[in-house]
Amino acid sequence: MAKHSLMGRLMKRLHPESIPWPGSVLYNAISSTVIFQRHYQMVADDILNYCSSGTLLDIGTGPARLLLTLHNKSPQLRLLGIDSSPAMVAKAKENTSGVQSIEIKDGNADKIPYPDNYFDIVISTVSMHHWKHPTEGLNEAYRVLKPGGFVLVYDLVSDTPETILADCKRQFGWFRTTLFWLHSFEEPFYSQADFQSMAQPTLFKIGQTKFLGLLYCLILKK
Ligand SMILES: C[S@@+](CC[C@H](N)C(=O)[O-])C[C@H]1O[C@@H](n2cnc3c(N)ncnc32)[C@H](O)[C@@H]1O
Repeated sequence: MAKHSLMGRLMKRLHPESIPWPGSVLYNAISSTVIFQRHYQMVADDILNYCSSGTLLDIGTGPARLLLTLHNKSPQLRLLGIDSSPAMVAKAKENTSGVQSIEIKDGNADKIPYPDNYFDIVISTVSMHHWKHPTEGLNEAYRVLKPGGFVLVYDLVSDTPETILADCKRQFGWFRTTLFWLHSFEEPFYSQADFQSMAQPTLFKIGQTKFLGLLYCLILKK
C-alpha cells in the first residue's frame, strides 16, 4: 500500500469506520436526492457490464439505494448488502422491505458473514476509505468471490483530475463541485496512486483502475 502523509494517517486513525445515527438518517436523506440517484444509475449500469445475473454482495451498502437501483434494472439478480453500522442496516432494511431479492445483514468488510466462493460479483461504493483494514477487506472479498468473478471498488479520490472536476461543474454546477472538493479535506480519501497499489498486497495481486464520473474504480478479478 502506498505511504500516506502524516495528516492522512492521522485522519485514517481518527475517522470513524461506521456511520452511526444520526449520520445514518442524514445520509439516507441525501442519498435520495436527484444527484445521488443519477450517480447510482451510472454505477449500476457499470456493474451490470461485469455481471447481470447471479448473486451480488455490496460491502458498506449504507441505505441500500444502489441495490434498489440494481434491482430495478436487473430483477433477476440476488442482491445482498452488509454494513458495519447497525443504524445504517436498520435504514437499509426499511428502504428494501418487501423486495424479496434484497437481503441486508450486519457485517464488516474484514469478516464477511458468507461462505467461500459464494458470490458472482462483489462491489462497494464510497465505503473503502472508511475501512480500518482495507487489505483484509479485499482478501475477504476474494474469499467469498467465485473464481472468474470481479470485485469492483468505487470511491472518491483526493486527487481528482481538473478535467473531471470541470465536467462535474458543467453537469452539476460549481456549488456542488466545491462542496465535493471541500469534502475531500474532511474525509481520508485515497489518492489514485494508493488505489493503483491496493491490489498488490492482497490475494488478487494485480488490479486495474478507471474513472467513472467522479468515482475512481478498482477492478479486481479472481
Ligand atoms: C458513505 S457510506 C456509502 C453507502 C453506500 N455504499 C452508498 O454508496 O450510498 C459508507 C458506508 O460504509 C459503511 N462502512 C464503513 N466501514 C465499513 C466496514 N469496514 N465494513 C462494512 N461497512 C462499512 C458505513 O457504515 C457506511 O454505511
